[in-house]
Amino acid sequence: MTFVVTENCIKCKFTDCVDVCPVDCFHEGPNFLVIDPDECIDCTLCEPECPANAIFAEDELPEGQEMFIELNAELAKTWPSITEVKDALPDADEWNGKPDKAELLER
Ligand code: SF4
Ligand code: F3S
Repeated sequence: MTFVVTENCIKCKFTDCVDVCPVDCFHEGPNFLVIDPDECIDCTLCEPECPANAIFAEDELPEGQEMFIELNAELAKTWPSITEVKDALPDADEWNGKPDKAELLER
């Protein structure tokens, strides 16, 4: 199993998740983070840390978020690793919880 970053991270990118991951499996794109499923050890630590509630176990994904399993695996291969917390994106609080952000994902 793995944990998966889902839609509500887009345009927020709070990065609190990065701070607790013991195996540094987060990778960073312009406005989204992903988890490398080959590195994740299912420790569960990141899930409660996300202010956007964007992280789920792959077998507990909310309806409509299934596409993010494949997206995390795909983008983790090319995006660089991120291991330190940084400032959230501008307007992260305004974007937190907005629907239909998937089309705003930048690669
Ligand atoms: Fe990292 Fe643990 Fe979260 Fe997996 S579940 S991404 S190992 S903090
Ligand atoms: Fe994204 Fe939440 Fe981490 S918004 S960057 S998954 S803390």
